[in-house]
Amino acid sequence: MSDVLYFNGKWTTTTDRVLGVEDRGFQFGDAVYEVFKFARKRPIFILDHFRRMERGLGEIDIQNPWNESSFVRMADELLERTAFEDGIVYIQVSRGESERAHFYPDDMKPTAIAYSRKFRFPDEAKKERGIRLITTPDQRWKQCQVKSVNLLANALAKKRAQRASADEALLLGDGLVREGASSSFFVVVKGKVITHPLDQHILPGVVRDRVIALALAAKIRVDERPIRETELFDLDEVFITSTTMGVMPVAEIDGRVIGNSRRGEITTRLQGLFDELERSEISQPRENTATTSRPS
Ligand code: PDD
Repeated sequence: MSDVLYFNGKWTTTTDRVLGVEDRGFQFGDAVYEVFKFARKRPIFILDHFRRMERGLGEIDIQNPWNESSFVRMADELLERTAFEDGIVYIQVSRGESERAHFYPDDMKPTAIAYSRKFRFPDEAKKERGIRLITTPDQRWKQCQVKSVNLLANALAKKRAQRASADEALLLGDGLVREGASSSFFVVVKGKVITHPLDQHILPGVVRDRVIALALAAKIRVDERPIRETELFDLDEVFITSTTMGVMPVAEIDGRVIGNSRRGEITTRLQGLFDELERSEISQPRENTATTSRPS
């Protein structure tokens, strides 16, 4: 499939083999990525994604090739050049290309790419029915707050889930529930929403942050604390969040049914509030895009 591709300031398509074989993103996983959603050709929460990428690049000492406004301009042009209205944009910034060696030269020129792609977002039936999770050990590196392209452990965990006829893998470490292989994880107990605190064990999810803000504004109590594995046996509601899934109820974990097997009340409320927030983001006047996102 051929999609519009931004590559280091130029426009081409994904069928063009642009990447050098000695790019450190390819050889060392020495890169950070982002995924944002767009609808009606409007990017959603674009500055939240930009800011997380900027923090991640800073943490692994890669220069950011964009600032906020050049990033938004690039994204707008990418969406203008895109033939469809709704989908996702994948962005990656690697340290760049140089002769393969663990030691990397100082002042490398980063490789920056971005492309748009069609995506089948979950339909209403799935958003009501929810998904199945399996649990599996968290085998990722120890800086999960960086959205690094080192996704081998995540990919293997997701494959394990797929082989067990589940949709997502829930990662467990030190007796605690961390997050999904590609999603943030929430439980609801006695009317209170609980999710892992922001630290090196989880990615600071853009949707996670927005959902916490929506919950607090709706006077729903939120507790950011680690969830013990043993707590998984007694939960009223469970949901995951991500850019591609939004707020998605969890119907089963390791074959055990959650709650009364129907989408829970708080999950339903937060899903509705989040969908509304996304819609309002899309309908804002274009010139406000760069200033209306809440700083993360
Ligand atoms: N994944 N945790 C992990 C490990 C993730 O990979 C993701 C997102 C999230 C949710 O983050 P956000 O709300 O910002 O999408 C949490 C993206 C969608 C992906 O890898 O495709």
